[in-house]
Amino acid sequence: MEVKVDVSGNVVGTLVLPMFEDACGSEDFDQFGIHRALLNMIEHVIENGDFRAKAGSSLTIHNLEGKVILTGLGKSADFDDDEARNTGASLVAKRGKQHGCEFTVRLGCMNSSQAAAYLEGAILRDYSYDKYKSKNEDDDDKDEDLILHAQVAEENVEALTVAARTAAQVSTGVHLARDLGNAPPNHLYPMAYAQQANNWAKEKSNVDIKIISYEAAVELGMGGLCAVGMGSDRKPCMVIFDLNPDADNQPPVIVGKGITFDTGGISIKPSSSMDEMKYDMHGSATVFGLMQALWASGHEKRIIAISCMAENMPSSNAQRPGDIITTLSGKTIEVLNTDAEGRLVLADGLWKAGEYNPSWIVDLATLTGAIVVALGHEATGMWSNDDDLAKRLRVSGDACGELIWQMPLLPAFEKEMKSSKIADLQNIGPTRWGGSNGAAAFLKQFVQKQSDDEDAKQIPWAHLDIAGTAWGAKTNKMVAHGATGIHVRALHHMITKQ
Ligand code: BES
Ligand code: MG
Ligand code: ZN
Repeated sequence: MEVKVDVSGNVVGTLVLPMFEDACGSEDFDQFGIHRALLNMIEHVIENGDFRAKAGSSLTIHNLEGKVILTGLGKSADFDDDEARNTGASLVAKRGKQHGCEFTVRLGCMNSSQAAAYLEGAILRDYSYDKYKSKNEDDDDKDEDLILHAQVAEENVEALTVAARTAAQVSTGVHLARDLGNAPPNHLYPMAYAQQANNWAKEKSNVDIKIISYEAAVELGMGGLCAVGMGSDRKPCMVIFDLNPDADNQPPVIVGKGITFDTGGISIKPSSSMDEMKYDMHGSATVFGLMQALWASGHEKRIIAISCMAENMPSSNAQRPGDIITTLSGKTIEVLNTDAEGRLVLADGLWKAGEYNPSWIVDLATLTGAIVVALGHEATGMWSNDDDLAKRLRVSGDACGELIWQMPLLPAFEKEMKSSKIADLQNIGPTRWGGSNGAAAFLKQFVQKQSDDEDAKQIPWAHLDIAGTAWGAKTNKMVAHGATGIHVRALHHMITKQ
């Protein structure tokens, strides 16, 4: 999609007129360049009460002189950036045969941050995963690039131009994360992800990629990653992205769960909806997408990301319930359920993150079904050992419409996860209650301390359980279906704006 920001001028393609309920009159929008005959019709439907600009309403009028979509924004006092983002997205959802591919939108009624959010929503929603669909002639419009002419008052043109450019840069990362999440698991397996990361970095002078192969991971003692991935012919690996490796800041590290398919392993899952477990690598999809977003927007500081890639399969080489594994940290885990595999690969990823002396660590994982029970598809669950980091994540999530809800990191859950009689830890709790809290408490055991001092504090760390927000969120208007690309934007916001 191409966005062009300018002052009100000629109307090209379909005219879009967003209006507030409390300012819904023909005098209330910029009439410049709109054909008199069309203006008469707009006046007519407003005067007749056929269009009152209620939130979510829209009315399309057309005659020989052109077409206009009147878009209701509801009461101005209730309208915020989230609503603006949703309204922009819903315009793009209308694209295609009926409304064509070129729009002129008059955004004069919105403040600058709402206008920016409107364009951001439109850009984010301009995505479809149709790589595997055979083309037919009816689809011509879908392939055509959208052109959006955003028209605002002269004093706002420059700021909105910059905002639209940043939104477009960041959305390349969101769309990449969705592509990775939506990719079928027969095509996207651990080393395929690594290969794609390599290709991505090849032409970029400020990115290093390191791939720790299965053999190297065995050698290094990454017992968690290897145990989960060894049941598959398509072996696990760890992919480490280093953006701006020569910058001199203490880098943050982002860690992603990248299970390219989660059958559950020997503790096999029921077959209904098992196909959705292709999304079990969305943590790593977000990690890759975030790197792209930061790179595209010209981020200059150092940042590291670690993707823990494995396919969780049952086979004669698979790990068994009852196995005890030794992780990179040296801590041992009694594997009581092979379907609690995300925490095993993250155990090694988090420990590895600690080796970079990071300023903070955030991990993202489609970790537990229990978080979907707790929060539905509306918010990501967050656990953190650092109030400041937790607050920054929450504020960034709010700013981007990607809600992050804090959950308790309780000592009682740590105790449960440490209750194995024969190993340091066990990978599931003794009961099914509060399963997401147990998983978070387990991960905390693999966050290194800030120094070797006995009473040194842990590195600031937060765990984001995105099992409910990575896909299937019908209320997420930024996406039609499939992977959402969740938290590329919130993390980009936190890293670049805070
Ligand atoms: N990938 C799943 C979590 C999941 C389930 C995400 C459903 C989204 C939807 C994870 O590996 C898993 O299987 N977790 C188990 C843990 C249990 C065995 C303690 C779960 O949540 O049932
Ligand atoms: Mg599992
Ligand atoms: Zn999983």
